[in-house]
Amino acid sequence: AGQDMWGGRFSSKPADIMQAINVSIGVDQRLWSQDLAGSRAHCRMLIKQGIIGAADGEAILGGLETIEGEIRGGSFPFRDSFEDIHMNVEARLSELIGEPSGRLHTARSRNDQVATDFRLWVRDACDRTGHQLVALQKALLGRAEQHAGDLMPGFTHLQTAQPVTLGHHLMAYVEMFGRDASRFADARKRMNENPLGAAALAGSPFPIDRHATAADLGFDRPMANSLDAVSDRDFALESLAAASITAGHLSRLAEEIVVWMTPMFGFASLPDDLTTGSSIMPQKRNPDAAELVRAKTGRILGSFVALSTVMKGLPLAYSKDMQEDKPPVFEAFDALDLALTAMTAMVAALIPNTERMAAAAGAGFSTATDLADWLVRELNLPFRKAHHVTGAAVKMAEGKGVGLAQLSLSELQSLEPGVTEAIYKVLSPEASCASRQSFGGTAPEQVRARIADWKSRLK
Ligand code: ARG
Repeated sequence: AGQDMWGGRFSSKPADIMQAINVSIGVDQRLWSQDLAGSRAHCRMLIKQGIIGAADGEAILGGLETIEGEIRGGSFPFRDSFEDIHMNVEARLSELIGEPSGRLHTARSRNDQVATDFRLWVRDACDRTGHQLVALQKALLGRAEQHAGDLMPGFTHLQTAQPVTLGHHLMAYVEMFGRDASRFADARKRMNENPLGAAALAGSPFPIDRHATAADLGFDRPMANSLDAVSDRDFALESLAAASITAGHLSRLAEEIVVWMTPMFGFASLPDDLTTGSSIMPQKRNPDAAELVRAKTGRILGSFVALSTVMKGLPLAYSKDMQEDKPPVFEAFDALDLALTAMTAMVAALIPNTERMAAAAGAGFSTATDLADWLVRELNLPFRKAHHVTGAAVKMAEGKGVGLAQLSLSELQSLEPGVTEAIYKVLSPEASCASRQSFGGTAPEQVRARIADWKSRLK
């Protein structure tokens, strides 16, 4: 059992509770492929440096190959008695090849081993997430292109503000998810250094080659301080921070889908296969997937809080507290994976009710700002004065139960004598959108130009 690895100075077996609190194989078996990669790189380096003999080294590499086959085939015996993935692999190696297995751990500790395995896992997770973000961006781009000229109300305070296009609205998320992807790419760059060879904490007296294992594992360089190498988990925290921000963006989009799907808004629906019904209310069609995407944010941000709390008071170097680093990271990336995949499916399948959106875009006096701007531009009114006149026009229209464009010329002239027929041209939501040609504005030409930029960037 586990104490075979370190039992020399012990006279009794661990108590059941010692083993129960200490065991992590149920969680860290997910690191198996990273653990095998790290062991192979370490073994090849030991052979090359003449630290172990070639025959022993070949036996070890052969045994690791067999273990990989067993794990892939589902026959590998994961055993609680061996605490974690590292000891499970080493124990099995010993059963498979006998004595030479004992040489693999030369110039290595589980401290640098686990730091290496975990870094490799988080690096892969960041890469995977980056690809999923691009897939989501592409789905949004496709929909934005389709609806680059379709009107919807733009909101502030969730009150009608100014007309925008649905394409413009969707492209806002393309920008957000683009920054999210760049955060993962940036975190990857910083984390891509090799902890292996830090050994327990102080480095190794053996003539190891940390540059060689770095190259073998795709790291840019060895970490420069052995204490730091086995102690820090900032790479995991940084990835969880990026995951939390991404989850926040997903949550906002999910919230909008939920709101759009309420019958009161009626802006969009989802096909049956992406909604659920109610067991009591026959009329219901619920956006559960969007709600769960919104809710996953709690788990993901919670994981960041959990791990930073584990790490914050630990003296250098390794403490067993750090074994608690894996559950939050696995949980967060599992949740993010689901959320990104579900969101991509919803974006691709969303059925916008463009008529209803367009009608709402023109309601709520959404072109009041355009009216005020016209007074400034054509009559040279100070903006504050124009704002006041427009407010009076809104009040008048509201009192009559009509829109701004339904006020007669003489009614408008009663508020500002200089008003002419030409003012009606700026009062439609189409004109309002089309006029916003500033870079990044909602005019369909602008939206299409940004879509083209992103398409070439994501190619
Ligand atoms: N299971 C441990 C972890 O995940 C491996 C490292 C153990 N190191 C030690 N010194 N006990 O952190």
